[in-house]
This record gives sequence, C-alpha cells and structure tokens, in this order.
Amino acid sequence: MVCNADESEPGTFKDRALMEGDPHRVLEGLIIAAYAVGADYSYIYLRGEYPYAYKVMEWAIEEARQAGYLGQNILGLGFDCEVELRRGAGAYICGEETALFESIEGKRGFPRIKPPFPTTHGLFGKPTAVNNVETLCNVPYIIEHGAQTYRRLGTEKSPGTKLFCVSGDVARPGLYEVPFGASLRHLLYGLAGGMRTGWKLQAILLGGAAGAFATAEHLDVRLSFEDLRQAGLPLGSGVVMAFDERRDLRDVLKRLARFFAHESCGKCYPCQLGTQRQYEITQRIAAGKILPGDADLLKDIGWTMSDASICGLGQTAAMAVLSAMQLWPDMFTASDLQEDYGRYSHPH
Ligand SMILES: Cc1cc2nc3c(=O)[nH]c(=O)nc-3n(C[C@H](O)[C@H](O)[C@H](O)COP(=O)(O)O)c2cc1C
Ligand code: SF4
Repeated sequence: MVCNADESEPGTFKDRALMEGDPHRVLEGLIIAAYAVGADYSYIYLRGEYPYAYKVMEWAIEEARQAGYLGQNILGLGFDCEVELRRGAGAYICGEETALFESIEGKRGFPRIKPPFPTTHGLFGKPTAVNNVETLCNVPYIIEHGAQTYRRLGTEKSPGTKLFCVSGDVARPGLYEVPFGASLRHLLYGLAGGMRTGWKLQAILLGGAAGAFATAEHLDVRLSFEDLRQAGLPLGSGVVMAFDERRDLRDVLKRLARFFAHESCGKCYPCQLGTQRQYEITQRIAAGKILPGDADLLKDIGWTMSDASICGLGQTAAMAVLSAMQLWPDMFTASDLQEDYGRYSHPH
C-alpha cells in the first residue's frame, strides 16, 4: 500500500496541511487501506520540500508503533503492517504513481507503460494500491460514521467534502474545505473574500498547472466531479488560482510552459519535444513577438502531447494553454497582439 504524499502540483498545499495538522489521520487511513487490500507493508512517499511534514509524520509513525497500531499483530488481530517513510528529491514526475514506484525502488523516476497496472504489477512487481493523502484521510471518518453519514454532504455523484487550495489575487488565500457541490463563487467570494480591493477578476486557473482556465462566467459552476466535467473544467488536485485584471496571462502561460518543459522526464518524444516547443512559443507570445503560424503550431503540439504522451504529465501539459486559446483566441494572433497589447496586461 502506498500513500502518495508527493504533492508537487503548483498551487497545491492541502496534503501538507493534513500531514502537519493531523498526521495520525493519514496513518489511520493508510493502515485501514492496507488492512482492506491485505498489504503488510506500506510506504509514504513524501515531497522532499516538506521537511517539517516529514518530521511530523516520522514522529507520528513512532507514536503509532509504540501504541501498537503498527508492527506485528496489530491490536491482536493477526494483522501486520509496517510503514516506511520515503522522501522525494524534487521531481514533479515522481508523483505519477509508477514513476513513484521506480523512485522508491531506487531507480530514475520514469513512468512505466501501462498495462500492466499497479493493482497486479506495482511496487517491486507486487500488487499495489496507491492513494493520495486526502483520499486516505476520508477513510477513518467513513469507517467510524458510516457511508450514509458521509453521503449527507456533497452531491449524489460526488459525496463528502473537498479541500480547495485557493491562492493568487484573493483577499484571503488559504485552504478551504467545502461540501462537493458548493459554487466557485461561494469559495472565491464567500470564503476567500473575493478579489483584493479594487481589482476585477480576470481568470481562475482550476486544477493546477495541469488544469484549465475559467472566467467570471463560470462562477456559478458547482464544484463537483459531474458539474465540472460538464463545464469542461478539471477538479485536479483542488487548485483554485485567481488572477486579477492586472496580471499578464501570457506571462502566466509562459511560466506554466516552462514548468512542464523543466519537469518532463524525457522518456517519450511527444512530451520531451512538445513541452520544449510549447515553452518556446509561449516565450514569443509573452514577449509580443508571435510569428505567423505560431497559434496553429501551439495547437498541433498541444493535441499531439495530449494524444500521444505516455503519462499524465504530457497528456495534460497543454491543457492550460489550449483552454486559454479557446477563451482568448486573439491573445495568440500577431496582429491583434500589437493593437490590443493592453488588454491582457494592465500596467500597475
Ligand atoms: C505527472 C503526475 C504527477 C502526479 N502527482 C501526484 C501527487 O503529487 N500526488 C498525488 O496524490 N497524485 C499525483 N498524481 C496522481 C497519481 O498518479 C495517482 O493517480 C494518485 O496518487 C492516486 O490517488 P487517489 O486515487 O487517491 O487520488 C500525479 C499524476 C501525474 C501524471
Ligand atoms: S509524458 Fe512526459 S513525463 Fe510522461 S513519460 Fe513521457 S516524457 Fe516522461
């Protein structure tokens, strides 16, 4: 059983809060999951840049062991469960489950070709279940109070609550837990206090670097799997990054593209080359030096990466760019760019 605590999606900080604030809940969820799948050995793969969360989890594991919740014959049930804490070394790709296995096995963090899937051939070739910290943290509550109680919150198809990492130009950035089905407006304006004084909302990046842009028109979309899917927006890891009208979105796109070019592991060509070319074009767009054909090229590269990459990194590396092309097509055309320069960049 593996707990994925790599949390490297830009704009995400929920797993850190859970591990630092309630480490025994993470462990309890992990131990129950290990019991459920019949695993006697578990790993927590923790983001390398979280030194304090690492310490807290280390202490919690020791406390749990001393209390008899870890180790041999837990609570006299004949069930053994060991937990090993592993630290990542700063690669976004190692959050991808099979690259994570490679990393734990001491190899370079390359994703594996699937199938076979982790459920039959996972860590060290053994059947493996892998879940995120937040997923596992829901488990103790469900076991204690029952599925029906858990289902009292949320929607029919998205039961329970969800943590959202709200950042950017809002008055009160932070981590918010809301029932699935709450609106984006409630989250951004009701809880996070809306935009900082005097500035209007320009765009919201939903789901992180591998996410997509929404605008003020999407504020009444309900935050649930089914509603977001219908609106063509990703839930991702719960990132809600707000940009006010002062932000130059071309610069934002360039930074996202740089992130993927830097983090691509290079195993497959669509992503290895595509992320580099995407970065080059977004650099030109951000500099106002678009070349004829750049917009078509950007789309071609984006769809090629989405369709032909081996893993989720390449498959989502163009999502934000493609969504921006749909929302603001004239941002990507050379002539409009010269005339409308001020539209996407409001000087402070
Ligand atoms: C490039 C990439 C990075 C990922 N990073 C993370 C991560 O940091 N944390 C995480 O839980 N899942 C991450 N995932 C998803 C995992 O592969 C896996 O689906 C997840 O851990 C399953 O947990 P869940 O079903 O409980 O959400 C990533 C996927 C990709 C493609
Ligand atoms: S899609 Fe990108 S990150 Fe994933 S295997 Fe291919 S090169 Fe590596």
